[in-house]
Amino acid sequence: MTWDISIASPGRINLIGEHTDYNDGFVLPAAIDKHIFLNLRKNGTKNRCTIKSEGFDTTFVADLYNLNHGTEGWHDYVLGVLKELQLLSKGLKGFDCAIHTNVPVGSGMSSSAALECGLAYGLNALFDLGLDKWQLIHLCQRAEHNFVGTKCGIMDQFASMMGKDGHSMLLDCKNLDYEYIPTKLDPYVILMLNTNVSHNLATSAYNMRREESASGLRIISEHFGVVNSFRSITRDMVEECAGQLGDVRYRRCSYVLEENQRVLNAASAINEGDMVSLGQLLYESHHGQREKYEVSCPELDFLVDMSKTEQNILGARMVGGGFGGCTLNIIHKSGVKKFVDEASWAYKHKFGIELSHFLTVPSQGTSRIN
Ligand code: GLA
Repeated sequence: MTWDISIASPGRINLIGEHTDYNDGFVLPAAIDKHIFLNLRKNGTKNRCTIKSEGFDTTFVADLYNLNHGTEGWHDYVLGVLKELQLLSKGLKGFDCAIHTNVPVGSGMSSSAALECGLAYGLNALFDLGLDKWQLIHLCQRAEHNFVGTKCGIMDQFASMMGKDGHSMLLDCKNLDYEYIPTKLDPYVILMLNTNVSHNLATSAYNMRREESASGLRIISEHFGVVNSFRSITRDMVEECAGQLGDVRYRRCSYVLEENQRVLNAASAINEGDMVSLGQLLYESHHGQREKYEVSCPELDFLVDMSKTEQNILGARMVGGGFGGCTLNIIHKSGVKKFVDEASWAYKHKFGIELSHFLTVPSQGTSRIN
């Protein structure tokens, strides 16, 4: 049986700007050269959708007239997208879909956004629904909020959909302006080390961080009578409200402002080819995530600490929501093998877990390949 269309939808890295997207801040992500591939065809029914995942070796059937929660985690990303598509268009009908992926799942590479974006993009093309990329990005984010229950920001869906070969993207999450930044790091490369842990408090802790920073912001903006946005407040204002905020909200709000500035500095460093400064900003970012936003974990900290002992590495930090997943390392290409061997041994010795790794480059966003 043949397919009507095929889509490749990438995961993403984020060079810097973590937990800033839902705080009206800046991020600097890129799509990567690892994808979820989706083959799609109309099946002639009004409502029957079959989705086969080679990775999970299962097929599940969704009924467009009755979209309930699925039995496995990844079903909800699919169902959420179908539900949100239906709200925007009457044109969606039954289809068959086969999926395979080489994006490591649960590793902070946004395999879920890749799936959402690939499916939304593919169905939009298959049924000629006429939605533009920004509508698709927003509907994928809503799928995650409304169906999956993670109150994520816009970064992952944006990066997967809008990625461009050889470029990172400086996105202003307040007004959604963005700029492609040529990102050639040679002789350095981007090495991802996968802790292969994903602590299961991630969703609840993520939503809690969101609340903590939002309530901190509310206190500050009410105190000064300014617009309720991290873009209206300064470090001095945070300092002045330290007592009212209490320790946790104080650290969350300080982190957001500092991380935003680091993103802008990192974009300038890349533009100027100043890889040393970029690396330093990555380390500072990780320190903030560890001490102030508290989204790291011992496995990530271990790998970042270890990278500091390796002279071929300019900087490293955790990537994505945190509590597991990958570290991103800017490393001289000549030093990759030695560092991977040493880190793998030390990590296994310390945690009893195999480390995995891959090199990646900024790549094209969700696209039709057939
Ligand atoms: C997850 C979310 C993103 C973003 C990151 C943290 O990947 O989906 O929206 O908030 O965490 O930067």
